[in-house]
Amino acid sequence: MAAAHPIWQTRPRGDQTSVWPRLRDHFAKSGAGLDLRQAFAADARRFERFSQSAPYIFGDLSKNRIDAVTEQLLLELAAECRIKAHRDAMFAGEPINTTEGRAVLHTLLRAPREPGPATGPDKLAAQRAQVHETLDAMLAFAESVRADATITDIVNIGIGGSDLGPQMAVQALDAFAIPGKRLHFVSNVDGHELAATLRHLQARSTLFLIASKTFTTIETMTNARSARHWFESQAGIGRADVARHFVGLTTNLAAAQEFGIHTTFGFWDWVGGRYSVWSAIGLPLAIAIGAEGFRAFLAGAHQMDRHFCTAPLSANLPVRLGLLDVWYRNFHGFSSRCVAPYHSALRRYPAYLQQLEMESNGKRVGLDGQPLAAGTSPVIWGEPGTNGQHAYFQMLHQGTDVVPVEFVTVARARHDLPGHQSMLLANALAQAQALMQGKADSGGHRNFPGNRPSTFLLLDDLTPQSFGALIALQEHRVFVSGSVWGLNSFDQWGVELGKVLAKDIEPRLASGAGAGLDASTAGLLARIRADY
Ligand code: F6P
Repeated sequence: MAAAHPIWQTRPRGDQTSVWPRLRDHFAKSGAGLDLRQAFAADARRFERFSQSAPYIFGDLSKNRIDAVTEQLLLELAAECRIKAHRDAMFAGEPINTTEGRAVLHTLLRAPREPGPATGPDKLAAQRAQVHETLDAMLAFAESVRADATITDIVNIGIGGSDLGPQMAVQALDAFAIPGKRLHFVSNVDGHELAATLRHLQARSTLFLIASKTFTTIETMTNARSARHWFESQAGIGRADVARHFVGLTTNLAAAQEFGIHTTFGFWDWVGGRYSVWSAIGLPLAIAIGAEGFRAFLAGAHQMDRHFCTAPLSANLPVRLGLLDVWYRNFHGFSSRCVAPYHSALRRYPAYLQQLEMESNGKRVGLDGQPLAAGTSPVIWGEPGTNGQHAYFQMLHQGTDVVPVEFVTVARARHDLPGHQSMLLANALAQAQALMQGKADSGGHRNFPGNRPSTFLLLDDLTPQSFGALIALQEHRVFVSGSVWGLNSFDQWGVELGKVLAKDIEPRLASGAGAGLDASTAGLLARIRADY
């Protein structure tokens, strides 16, 4: 039974702590003017001091505008905000998603079948058993699809967390994918996307995965119905074939069955959509890299979970990154973070992180529903390097705004084309160096101010394990900053209003009735109606 005033509701927000004004003072005295070049010159051990190893990932934080005092104060902030207790409440399955009255247990999806050394009864035994039963069934199904030569194309229909995670993961781990299976992802309600995908498919050799936590999302249901209609209208296909060619990945098994789907893999309301790649939503990845690969992906994430739970806060990579995010957002006033993966297989990683960070921490009220005094989620954006260098890096080097950059690099290449990997890595290192060092030039146009911060995450190799660890790292750093900000990182009420209004507007496209709409919306509606 939960206590009357559980820890996750009574913790102070960061801006209510006694250390917050001290952080502000420190920023005013030395943080604002911290010069990275001088900081390196003054401390031969700065790189060691501000770098952090975690499972599969080395993080170099030394090119950030922090000093020993900043880190000490940020750790005091974490302590005052009772981050550890909040973290433990999440892992213990307490209902920390207060606005929806739910636990937040995506970490259980990657926990081993047997709990660690017993410290008491396993309170999550029932959920743990369900997780492994579903995982075993889903992985057996993935293996059967891999072995079935008649299936050549797998189409995942889903959006948001039911698309971004699996799509990113399938791309990222392409080097481990089974040949002969093409994976497609359709998310947008824009029919161009589905039509372009279907154009190249044969119904008999296609498997549709309908991925939706709720099985009510308008985009996914519209695409799923159109896919089913297309499928049934193909030569030699009957209604009965739907059952064999459509699979449901959802918490709403009844709705999937009603749709005509017989094969379903479930998950639970304690798995948030943007945290669901570890669940049945990961089926596309399991088909691509196999059961063993998928288990390795989970194991890598679990190792990061252990790091998050057991490493002291001062040597805890997700904690150090999450606190840095608070430092930049609330004291430096940096309102965005650029994500630069130097690996083309990580091309959907920035988009995935956009949902993870901005849907989790893009909130303006605290747990009590009252407006927050301090800023929250930064804007996340980016593209793989080196492409970004030829697009927006100009602004990062010489623009008026300072944008912290987070590089992700992978030392080992999985191709043997000579020269490419060294050029890629050299560019990543050079960009981080150039941002920090700058270059003095009397002519303003060629002057690089430097002192522009960046974090450098380095993986030895991009494998299922290391990739799982990277994604778990990002989940936990978002938890840490959200926890300091005192908001609920696990709901997303902000997406609701637009959905409701779209329902009202859609029939007006046919009827033309603009009554009750604002003049701009009514005017646009009239113009669109003339052409569509
Ligand atoms: O955009 C809102 C949202 O609820 C996301 O949180 C979620 O990942 C996405 O829609 C898709 O939801 P579902 O998996 O239920 O179709």
